[in-house]
Amino acid sequence: MFVSDCISVNEKGHLTIGGADTLELAAQFGTPCYVMDEQQIRKNCRAFVNSIKENYDGNGLVNYASKALCCKEMCRIAAEEGLGLDVVSGGEIYTALSAGVAAEKLNFHGNNKTLDELHYAVKAGVGRVIVDNLEELNALSRIAAENGKTVDILLRIKPGIDAHTHEFIRTGQIDSKFGLAIETGEALQGIQAALQAEAICLKGYHCHIGSQIFDVEPFEHAAQVMIGFIADMKAQTGYEAEELDLGGGFGIKYRTDDNPIAFEEYMARVAAVLKQECAARQVKTPFISIEPGRSIVGSAGLTLYTVGAVKTIPDVRTYVSIDGGMGDNPRYILYQAEYEILNAARANEPKTQVVTLAGRCCESGDLIQENAPIQPVAAGDIVAVLSTGAYNYSMASNYNRIPRPPVVLVDRGQARVIVRRETYEDLVKNDI
Ligand code: LLP
Repeated sequence: MFVSDCISVNEKGHLTIGGADTLELAAQFGTPCYVMDEQQIRKNCRAFVNSIKENYDGNGLVNYASKALCCKEMCRIAAEEGLGLDVVSGGEIYTALSAGVAAEKLNFHGNNKTLDELHYAVKAGVGRVIVDNLEELNALSRIAAENGKTVDILLRIKPGIDAHTHEFIRTGQIDSKFGLAIETGEALQGIQAALQAEAICLKGYHCHIGSQIFDVEPFEHAAQVMIGFIADMKAQTGYEAEELDLGGGFGIKYRTDDNPIAFEEYMARVAAVLKQECAARQVKTPFISIEPGRSIVGSAGLTLYTVGAVKTIPDVRTYVSIDGGMGDNPRYILYQAEYEILNAARANEPKTQVVTLAGRCCESGDLIQENAPIQPVAAGDIVAVLSTGAYNYSMASNYNRIPRPPVVLVDRGQARVIVRRETYEDLVKNDI
């Protein structure tokens, strides 16, 4: 009935997540508040891990794309479930290492890693650096040699695939800031340079075609292109890649009528393409990795807010203002992202109102949802915005000097804070 399996309604008619009553959570932890269900996160991790076991003889690894939600506890959960981590900055490396995740479990990404970050990654001993460009390859080679280490890398390749998703979160096409294009010869040049570079061991290739993708076809197409690329490069350079990272991007349900594919189906179909293409092109089936972010945490989370002002502008619309906004969820303002919204105390009742859920920032565009159906709401009510587990906390800001909400983790009805609410003191801690 709801967009996520971990969301339900109890005998009081209150919305629940992971078995906990959201009104009680709001009373205990205050609002705004992010709430995540631990069992749902673990279930999602296992579905991906099992899908590789079942469809690809376990010859692969799932790396959680930590940008979706990066905090120490989330890194620990992913590691406990046997996942590696995709990290994209020194800050994400630091978070993972502070959580006790082994450096070799980290895949370091980014189109413009700083020299400081490359030094940090090499010294820490991250498992793979996903090299984006030739400048980076040269810098990494020099830094690795200086440190007396050999760094295992994957080269980020643009497979030239245009996935149907929002233009800002599309990455596999030629006109993208990420990676080396096949068509232009850049990718070949990258391989030749990597094979000659000092202190670098080229393990294979990486591609990522975008995010919130619902169709399997673009993923199948990417798999086909990348195996073709492995075969072409083997013919041209003699180098046969052992590893292929297929990126993330699996779509999740934000609205009840969204219909994403099951992870298992994705892997069954992609694995079939991989095996078939490898046989046809006479290359070894590579060790694969995938990097789901949103699909691990997105539907496992929601945000709770308290309603303040309600303004009905006759014949125009009703603004329902909440105690959060673009600071804790910038996704509507950035991507017109759609969400299901509910009055947490009346979650079973019909949605008889259409409202615009407005944030509290001094900015007209600070909206969480426009013209969205909801049960009747009034000042003091708790509103829940569903499926906010990915890219909400991780993209939150302190605009207007509003402290960021806490992240509360529920495990079979028991709640605990995993990221505490920021204080005013936190806001000024770097001010001189
Ligand atoms: N791997 C790479 C190289 C990526 O760039 C990304 C996401 C992922 C994996 C994980 O993708 P996912 O499975 O989460 O779709 N802020 C946007 C999403 C940006 C995604 C960036 N890269 C949003 O809120 O929709």
